[in-house]
Formats: sequence, C-alpha cells, structure tokens
Amino acid sequence: MSDWLITGCSELLTLRGPVPRRGRAAEDVGILRDGALLVHNGQIAAVGTRHQIERLPESRRAEKLDLGGRVVLPGFVDSHTHLIFPAGRAEEYEQRIQGKSYEEIARKGGGISSTVAALRRTPVRRLRERALFFLEEFAAHGTTTLEAKSGYGLDWKSEARILGLLGRLHQDQPLDIVRTFLGAHAIPPEFRGRAGAYVDLLVRRWIPSVAAADLAEFCDVFCDRGGFSLAQARRILTAARASGLVPRVHAEQFAPTGAALLAIEMEAASADHLEQITPGDVRALAQSNVACTLLPGCVFHLGLSRHAPARALLDAGAIVVLATDFNPGTSPTLSMPMILSLACSQLRMTPAEAVVAATIHAAYSLRAHSHIGSLEVGKYADLAAFDVASYREIPYYFGVNLCSLTMKRGVVIHSKMW
Ligand code: NIG
Ligand code: FE
Repeated sequence: MSDWLITGCSELLTLRGPVPRRGRAAEDVGILRDGALLVHNGQIAAVGTRHQIERLPESRRAEKLDLGGRVVLPGFVDSHTHLIFPAGRAEEYEQRIQGKSYEEIARKGGGISSTVAALRRTPVRRLRERALFFLEEFAAHGTTTLEAKSGYGLDWKSEARILGLLGRLHQDQPLDIVRTFLGAHAIPPEFRGRAGAYVDLLVRRWIPSVAAADLAEFCDVFCDRGGFSLAQARRILTAARASGLVPRVHAEQFAPTGAALLAIEMEAASADHLEQITPGDVRALAQSNVACTLLPGCVFHLGLSRHAPARALLDAGAIVVLATDFNPGTSPTLSMPMILSLACSQLRMTPAEAVVAATIHAAYSLRAHSHIGSLEVGKYADLAAFDVASYREIPYYFGVNLCSLTMKRGVVIHSKMW
C-alpha cells in the first residue's frame, strides 16, 4: 500500500474536534486552506497546511497526489441504508404520482411486502451483483462507509442470507459496511394477523441467534403506523440490548407514536426519520445522546411536504445526522451530495451543519467516530475530493455529482481526475 502526500486541497475540511458537538459547535468543519495530508498504511499520519506537511521528512518518500485546488472532506458516512433489495418499485412511484399514498399501496400488498416476496425468489449471486454495482456508485458520490439493514427477507433463511452477504461484501470490496438486523421491518406474510407471535419469534429466537452468530452490530425496528407498536418495539429492543445488539429506531415517519422517546429510553444509537415529532420530543432528544438521523430523501421522493424539524433540533442542541435511507420504496438515492442539497434548502441546515451531520456525527451514530468521520491523525484515510470552489457548492449544485476522487483507507477507489 502506498504512502501518499496529498496536496492541492484549496479547502481541507478536517472535521477535527470533540464528538458529538452541539449548537453552534455543530457548524465547526475545521477548515484548513491550502491543506495537505500525509497517509501511511491507510491511516492519516499528519494533517496541516501544505507548508507544514511538505516539510516533514516522511513526505519526501511518499507518492505525491496533487488534488489541483479541489475541496476535500472526510468520506461521507451513510448511516441508514437498505442496500440489499432485488429490484426497484417504479410502478408504485407512478401510482403515487397519480394520487395513491405510500401507506395505501403498502396495505394492498405493495410496499415492503412486495420487495420481500421478490427477494425470497432472488438468488444471492444476483443480490450480490446488484449490491456491488450500487457500492461503486456510493463510492463515486463520496461515501466511504455505510450502514446496511436486513429486513427484506423476514424469514430466518432470507434474513441470514442478507446479513451473511453484507458481511462478505464488507470483506471483499473497499467500502466498510456496518450491519443492522431489521427483522422488525414489517410483519411477514406467514404471520399476518399474528404480529404478537412474530415478535415472540424475534425476541426469543432470531435476535439471540443474530447476536450469537455475530451477524450484525445493530438492531432496528420500524415503529410506526402500519409497522410495529410502541410496546412491540420496546420488547424487540430490550431483547436486542440483552443480546448485545445496539438499538436503532425507524421513528415517527408517518405518525406520532412515542418512538423517539422510546429510542431515548432504550439508549438507542439513533432515532431515524422524526418527521412527526413534537416540541417535547425535540427537547428530550436534544438532552440525550441519541443521534437524530434525518432522511429528507424520503420526503422528497414521496412528494410530501412535512420534513423533520431540523432547525429546532439543531437549535436545541440535538445531535443531527443525515443519511440517504437508500431503499426501493421511499428513497431510491445513494447520493449523499443530493441529501445535503435537500438538508440545506428544505431543512434549512447550513452547508457546514450538513457536512458535520453527514460525516463525524454519522460516524458517532455508528459508534465508529474513533476511526472514521474526520481527517485526524490515526484515523482512516477515507476522503472525498470535490470539483467545487467552496464546500458550500457541494449542496448548491443539486442533483449534480461533482465528486472527482474518493479514497478509502489510502486506496483510490474512484477517480475522474486522470
Ligand atoms: O426507511 N418504512 C420503513 N422502511 C423504509 C421503506 C422501505 C420500503 O418501502 O421498501 C424506510 O423508509
Ligand atoms: Fe429506512
């Protein structure tokens, strides 16, 4: 593996500093102008201005990488994706445009259930090919780590197949993949009308088995109208914790349910969505260590207008994270730059807040901030370079991918530069 002397960073966003950071500190992206990095063995060995780094004796031996005045930041950490699914659902997209709602389509057997039925018929080889294709696209948009959930199998064999595939993908392609068990994504067809029995199975058998076989680090539950109730979610996450899996929660996307407060009670790493939360929830979340993961791609794709109260959360001091929620039903995008655009123009986050939310705070929500999420000595050399004049132009040029180089642990995994 080569050592690199990386120069030519007109703005180097280091994201250095304490984690998490609240209030005004959540805008601190730690910019160095004319910045440089020294990379050794896939890790950052030194970071500073070009003048400081070029003088180091180790810099002489390193391979030179001049980024030609590009803007450089830590690779995006996409902390909420449903990477493994067999096909898109564009026919439902068209139905929604014609006036049907997401929940209505789901009640009639579309939605998650239709993806579950299709996934069970799809060979794992095919799921892997699709995932590899998408992972290259994630990398091309500047993402270097992602979380990925199961949840489109919903029988033991299929859920274990998805988690096993994610584990192998983590090993044999460059991006790091953090695995979440989402057996509680929907009630499987075999248990229709018997949700309690399915929750029993999750709690007594599947969650302990996932943890014992080391198939996932996190356990998620879709606690919402049309999903699992608050009491069911509490049982599921209590079992997860007892088995050593860290909770995450799909909370209050469609209806106010109390799931955000449950996330706090369960010491979840993250409460995700949050479109329907109350001012009381905002205050409680701001006083907790639960990351508030906002997924504006869903609101955009579903053609809805009510976004999560990002401004209120940030102003109250909550830990805000942004993610794609890449999935075939509500957010078929893997572009973190697009999510930043939505965060800025729809959620009224500043570009700096959006960058913090998509890097160091996302890493915090995956309990991975000791090695990713910022460009500091000892952390992975995971970075993305953008063809823009200032980091503000990353969200500004919406729907355009200006990422020209992505490096993962010191290896260039995407480049449009040469
Ligand atoms: O995060 N509602 C839960 N899960 C996804 C949607 C999944 C689907 O429609 O396939 C979400 O929005
Ligand atoms: Fe999701």
